[in-house]
Amino acid sequence: MAETPFVPGILPEGKSALRIGDDMTDTSTQTYVLTGATGFLGSHLLAALLQRGDRVIVLGRPTADESLAARIDRLLAWFDLRGRSGQIETAEVDFLKPLCGLDPERYQELCDKACTIIHCASDTRFSERNRHESTTTNIDSLDQIIGFAKDSNAPWFHYVSTAYAAGIASGHCPEAPVASERFVNVYEETKARAEKEVAAHCTICAIPFTIIRPSIVYGDSRSGRANCFNALYNHVKSLYYIKEIYLKDIHEQGGRKSREHGIYLDDSGILHLPLKIAVADRGTINLIPIDYFVSASLSILANAQPGTFYHITSAHPKTLEDLASYCEAFLNIRGIEIVYGVAPNRAFNPPEALFNRFIEPYLPYLSDTRTFARNNTDGATAGLIPPEFTFDVFERCMEYAVGVHWGK
Ligand SMILES: NC(=O)c1ccc[n+]([C@@H]2O[C@H](COP(=O)([O-])OP(=O)(O)OC[C@H]3O[C@@H](n4cnc5c(N)ncnc54)[C@H](OP(=O)(O)O)[C@@H]3O)[C@@H](O)[C@H]2O)c1
Repeated sequence: MAETPFVPGILPEGKSALRIGDDMTDTSTQTYVLTGATGFLGSHLLAALLQRGDRVIVLGRPTADESLAARIDRLLAWFDLRGRSGQIETAEVDFLKPLCGLDPERYQELCDKACTIIHCASDTRFSERNRHESTTTNIDSLDQIIGFAKDSNAPWFHYVSTAYAAGIASGHCPEAPVASERFVNVYEETKARAEKEVAAHCTICAIPFTIIRPSIVYGDSRSGRANCFNALYNHVKSLYYIKEIYLKDIHEQGGRKSREHGIYLDDSGILHLPLKIAVADRGTINLIPIDYFVSASLSILANAQPGTFYHITSAHPKTLEDLASYCEAFLNIRGIEIVYGVAPNRAFNPPEALFNRFIEPYLPYLSDTRTFARNNTDGATAGLIPPEFTFDVFERCMEYAVGVHWGK
């Protein structure tokens, strides 16, 4: 990986391309405290900060069989950044315990560094079953993290939220505190509540804060690489495995099930797979690549205004039809049809029933009629916008995902 990577994205006419380290981003070397560094977005932020020479204190947790330091080391290897390990310090913490679970000396030692904090850790599961964990991780832990920010006189507290903290809203969502009281799932709800807590506590403690709200993030638009395969990948992976089931039936089991379900392989090798995807409204899917998330975030960190909300979203999101056609071309299948406003008691054919089971939690995001204001982000990033989500980008990302067995 190049040491000074090109910051992707498309700039308006008259603006020159940015590189990490250019004047839109910090030129001086700093130390950051980062949570969530073992996750998808946090690991990419970590890599970008290290690449531009910053030092990072990672607050995180071990797994049952691996220390936090070992987890971070594996990530550095993935990013080809082991040579930068000297810029990292790790601290195993528990955000529900006093002093974040650290002994007082270690806590004070970290406080003395007075770093900008990027709080990226979150329980990102949507399921109501995980309400308790979502609430403790996303809300209850803020007491300790913001307490740490206060004790360390942190110059900034940047909270990574989500554009979907907007909840059940319609029309144009402003870069402003959440107005909705209703949410699609516990994830949205806890993120919205966390935003309020961050704003309230940071204001009381006089800590300058920002709320950074990405939409749905996929892999690197230039290389196709990713180290997490949720969201967009789930839909494509589901279709991929449904196709595999029927190809196996056709090639190895005589094809009876396929015939019964109206599925067949034509002479050119295309699998005809009638599959209706029913969504409530005609809308779009707001996707951004991880490389754009990182470059926009770095610019926001460098140009942050206190108390400001930033949508890191696409101004030109794709439709579900676009995505379906990308899936058909990539998987060599035909027959996906998008239907709108279908009665809930409609009978599903077997592949539809299977697909719906996989993607059900994500359905509200597939056909979103909302748009997201980007004025603050445009201001902080000199109008940097995400690269277009073309079929080439999609194919690159999905080829990588298939190549690594969807991260298994
Ligand atoms: N991915 C997206 O498309 C997307 C879109 C919009 C917003 N976001 C936001 O971006 C942030 C990062 O998301 P992500 O997709 O990178 O999530 P992720 O891959 O699920 O990673 C979550 C991170 O949070 C940490 N974490 C979770 N529970 C924790 C706990 N109780 N104590 C300490 N650390 C904990 C995880 O640590 P472990 O590895 O130890 O579990 C991991 O580092 C979140 O705030 C999310 O709301 C993500």
